[in-house]
Amino acid sequence: MELLKQRIAKEGIVLNNAVLKVDSFLNHQLDPQLMMQIGEEFAGRFKNEGITKVVTIESSGIAVALTTALFLKVPVVFARKKKSILMTDDVFHTQVFSYTKKESNDITISKKFLGSKEKILIVDDFLASGEAALGMAALVREAGSQVAGIGIVIEKSFQQGRQRLLDAGYRVESLVRIESFVNNQVVFL
Ligand code: G4P
Ligand code: NA
Ligand code: NA
Repeated sequence: MELLKQRIAKEGIVLNNAVLKVDSFLNHQLDPQLMMQIGEEFAGRFKNEGITKVVTIESSGIAVALTTALFLKVPVVFARKKKSILMTDDVFHTQVFSYTKKESNDITISKKFLGSKEKILIVDDFLASGEAALGMAALVREAGSQVAGIGIVIEKSFQQGRQRLLDAGYRVESLVRIESFVNNQVVFL
């Protein structure tokens, strides 16, 4: 997605050659128009999959999940993230380890909002190690539903996430793929 590449090149800040800060349009301040364009792009790529719901994880996935769901005319549900939860019967839960933050979180989705026999589109802002996406996929499958695809806004292709998702059999659509960071500049794939 050319527009997104331009915004990253112009406004992205590379931190210690591993993390891209895009706080001005995606992770802190949000550009609503860009969020709409991203949603339209995801919806177009998955329009023939019979998607019944969009699933993401709080907090940065919510904006793009909302606009994607708007174009697909389906609901969106976001997984909640907690340090640890009291196990209850009314939620699906799994553990997600963040390599970036070196901490584990429990993620949960209420059983009320994740039924069986749904066709789920998972979306997220970043793909790094793939832990968040694999965790969401585990919740969807535990519910008895199908992961119809995974939409990623910014993929860091030098990390393992994409390959792990492909190995697990999922279709992955990334709007921008980053090959590397060189001298704090973004190199696109
Ligand atoms: P993974 O899910 O692919 O394994 O990624 P990882 O655990 O390493 O990422 C942890 C958090 O950091 C996630 O957000 C993820 O979106 C974000 N992240 C990973 N790489 C980058 C990057 O290069 N730039 C930015 N800006 N974020 C990155 P989170 O902790 O769940 O937070 P949030 O959704 O509340 O923002
Ligand atoms: Na995220
Ligand atoms: Na994030």
